[in-house]
Amino acid sequence: MKSKVTVVGAGNVGATTAQRIFEKGYSDVVLVDIVPGLPQGKALDMLQSGPILNSDAKIIGTNEYDETEGSDLIVITSGLPRKPGMTRDDLLDANSKIVSSVVKETATRSPNSKILIVTNPLDAMTQCALDVSGFDSKNVFGMAGILDTARFKTFVSMELNVSVDSISAFVFGGHGDTMVPITSTTNVGGVLIDKLIPKSRLDEIIQRTRDGGIEIVNFLKSGSAYYAPSAAVVQMVESVLLDKKEILPCTAYLNGEYGHKGIYLGVAVKLGASGIEEIVEFDLTDHERSELNRSADAVVELVEAMKKNSYPSIF
Ligand code: LAC
Repeated sequence: MKSKVTVVGAGNVGATTAQRIFEKGYSDVVLVDIVPGLPQGKALDMLQSGPILNSDAKIIGTNEYDETEGSDLIVITSGLPRKPGMTRDDLLDANSKIVSSVVKETATRSPNSKILIVTNPLDAMTQCALDVSGFDSKNVFGMAGILDTARFKTFVSMELNVSVDSISAFVFGGHGDTMVPITSTTNVGGVLIDKLIPKSRLDEIIQRTRDGGIEIVNFLKSGSAYYAPSAAVVQMVESVLLDKKEILPCTAYLNGEYGHKGIYLGVAVKLGASGIEEIVEFDLTDHERSELNRSADAVVELVEAMKKNSYPSIF
C-alpha cells in the first residue's frame, strides 16, 4: 500500500511540495487549501502529468479535511509569506492562528501521523503544532536546516568551483538571523573549510546564507522562496516514509541536548519511520556553542510572545 501525505497550503511552497512528492510515485497526496478550486485545479493538473512522468500515485485537492483522514504525514505550509522589509518573526500572530487551526483539523483525523511544519516563523510554529496536537515530540518537527544548509553549500560550491556533492556541512539553530553554520565540521572532500576559504570571505558567505530567504523575497517582491524549500521538505518526507534514517539538520524538540530543554531548535537528527529517532550531538567549538545559545534565546523569546499573545485565543 502506498503512503499518504497531506500537504496543507496550495500556494507556491505547498503546491511545489505536493508536485515533488507526487512525482516520486510512492505516496498518495491530498492537497488542502481554503481557496475554492485552487487545490482541486492544481491537483488535477498534477494527476494528469502521471502518465508522462510514470507516477501511479493519486493526488486530490480539497477545501475540506475529511479526505486527509489516515495520513502518515501532514506537511503544513499554510500561512502568510513575507513581503520585502518583513522578518519571519513579523508573521508570528497571524500564522500561529492559521497553524493551530490546521493542526486541530488534521491531527484529530490522523492521530498516528507525523507533522512537518514549514510555515514561518518556523521554530515557534513547530512549538505551536506540538502544543495543539498533543503528539509525542518525536513526531512533530520542522523544515529549515536542510534549506539553510543547501544555501550555504550552494555558495561554498560557487566560491570553490566544486561539486555541491563534495561539500559536507550543517547549519544549526533557529531559522532566522541567528542561524549557526557549523564551520568546525564543514569540509570539502575531507578538507576543512577554514583551510580553503579565508575567514573574512567565509563570514561573507555565512551572512549571505543568513540572508538567503530575504534575498529571494526581494527579487520576487510578493512571496518567498519555494523551489529549494520544497526540495528540502521532500528530503525529510522521504527519510520518514522510506525509513532512510538520514542524518539531517531539522528543527527538533530538545530534551537536554546542547544544554537546552523544552524548545525547538535546528540540530542534526536521525530521521526515519519513527520520526526524530535520535538527536545527534556534535562536538561544537565554544564559539559555535555560544552562537547556538544566542539562537535558542531568540527562539524562546518568540515562543513566549506567541504564548502570551496568541495562545489565549488558540486554547
Ligand atoms: C526562506 C523562507 C521559506 O528561508 O523561510 O526562504
